Amino acid sequence: MCGIVGYIGRKEAYPIIIKGLKRLEYRGYDSAGVALLHPEMVIFKKAGKVVDLEKVADPTKTSATIGIGHTRWATHGEPNDRNAHPHLSNSGKLAIIHNGIIENYASIKEELIKRGYHFDSDTDTEVLVNLIEEVQKKENTTLDNAVRIALNEVVGAYAIVVLNIDNPDQLIAARKGSPLVLGIGEKEFFIASDASPIIEYTKNVVYLDDQEYAVLNRDGSYSIKTLGNVEKSHEIQKLEFSLEMIEKGGFEHFMLKEIYEQPKAIEDSLRGRMNASQGWIKMGGLTEYSNKILSADRFIITACGTSWHSGLIGEYLIEELARIPVEVEYASEFRYRNPIIDEKDVVLAISQSGETADTLAAIELAKERQALIYGICNVIGSSIARASHAGSYTHAGPEIGVASTKAFSTQVSIITLIALQLAEKKGTIPASRVRQLLFELEGISKKIEETLLVDAQVKEIAAIYKDASNFLYLGRGVNFPVALEGALKLKEISYIHAEGYPAAEMKHGPIALIDENMPVVFLATNKSAYEKIVSNVQEVKARKGKIIAVVHKGDTHIRSLADHIIEVPETDEILSPLITIVPLQMLAYHIAIMRGCNVDQPRNLAKSVTVE
Ligand code: G6P
Repeated sequence: MCGIVGYIGRKEAYPIIIKGLKRLEYRGYDSAGVALLHPEMVIFKKAGKVVDLEKVADPTKTSATIGIGHTRWATHGEPNDRNAHPHLSNSGKLAIIHNGIIENYASIKEELIKRGYHFDSDTDTEVLVNLIEEVQKKENTTLDNAVRIALNEVVGAYAIVVLNIDNPDQLIAARKGSPLVLGIGEKEFFIASDASPIIEYTKNVVYLDDQEYAVLNRDGSYSIKTLGNVEKSHEIQKLEFSLEMIEKGGFEHFMLKEIYEQPKAIEDSLRGRMNASQGWIKMGGLTEYSNKILSADRFIITACGTSWHSGLIGEYLIEELARIPVEVEYASEFRYRNPIIDEKDVVLAISQSGETADTLAAIELAKERQALIYGICNVIGSSIARASHAGSYTHAGPEIGVASTKAFSTQVSIITLIALQLAEKKGTIPASRVRQLLFELEGISKKIEETLLVDAQVKEIAAIYKDASNFLYLGRGVNFPVALEGALKLKEISYIHAEGYPAAEMKHGPIALIDENMPVVFLATNKSAYEKIVSNVQEVKARKGKIIAVVHKGDTHIRSLADHIIEVPETDEILSPLITIVPLQMLAYHIAIMRGCNVDQPRNLAKSVTVE
């Protein structure tokens, strides 16, 4: 949440910052702001998006070569101009941008007020910049040392960048719990919440670790220290993605592009990890700890949002194929309820961003209790990836749309491979079945490509139901989490209330909602429960609900009952979520567009939730 960008060098900072903020808007878009040293301190800030900020920026004051910028997802204080970052210290000499939450801001604020400080905003960030100023005055020390001392006094999460009018040749950045990447150019530095604002200028980056701060100087020198004042040297890493990967490439929205990228993303996630004709699976991450993983008493999958839904599919796959008991936990619940967990447990942490605060805290707790942590993340070098003992990247490529699509399908494909490798090693299913599933997985991208052809038909269905107030999504077995995910997609981006339910549970509540105005989306591809699903369809039909059914090609039975059918290619039932989710993503997308919603940046949401 919140995106931050900083630049120091010889180029004009403002265009770099604005472009960077636009790339980071997925992290929050309640307000935006920049501070530049011109050499006087120039600040522009505005509630709304980065384009609104551009309208208020005075073009005669944007030629500075040092500056910081912020796009906000509000935590403390309304999303108005006053609470927008950057925030200034009382002397007007320091400007700060901040991503995270300072939990003990109230007591610090009280103390600062006693010492004569005043506050113009409701934010915890303004408290932090004044604390830094107060420390610098009191200790009569350098700004970087004052930042270090002040950060030792705060409780909470932060990534910050500080601009100092007294030193226009230096930027100071620090992090704890919120990500921060430094781009190392030729006598220039970039700082950002992720690498997307940097990639255009340099591929050389350094990921700051928690409790570290960096001092970046205009002459090209820099230093990194821990908050305990110990010098650190970080290896410079090479960014693996390209600029095209974070641009829309002819699609109107990132979400649509990412839906269409799923066949390729899945291929990338499987590449080098399996070969069906040669019959091998190699999940590198599993090898190092294979004894511990194979002898685990149980797996606990922890995640949030869409990643939690892929975790539910993972439960089904791992139990079915590898016969290891699995529990799936919302990270936010797990971390606060003293869970029973020990060194015989394996925790699978699933996260697209690798930065979700609750998931990170859940794995820290599990680590303290000696469990092995296996991370499944998309963002390379992310906090969860680094905090895990072992893991697998999903290799979906950058996902920009706030509603997750290709990250979900690649998570599911990775968990499928994990389940298959464990099953093979444990001998829980015959080798022929492993081989059969590998072939099916290898061919799944082609079938998803075929599924994408239902787009126009789904659009027609969207036009009919775009004004519905509620939607119900029903599925059984491995398609129950798909129902949850389909409902989540719709509510996230179209603001229509939607619920996902196991189809058989409908009769214990949701059936009361069904009338002629209620669209019900059935995932009806499961062979194992086909007759049962047909009965559920009948139950909805009898109450005049409108039935939209996702069925296998050639299904005639449900066709005769449903108002609309969406035919998808047949695959092995346990792999079917990779296919059945596609029309649901499209349905949500088209309905949201028809309702005039911003699909890539839905209201109140953010892609990377680095606050709890
Ligand atoms: C936010 C995003 C969701 C995502 C969830 C978990 O709510 O809007 O799309 O599923 O966070 O994020 P993660 O990065 O941990 O998968």
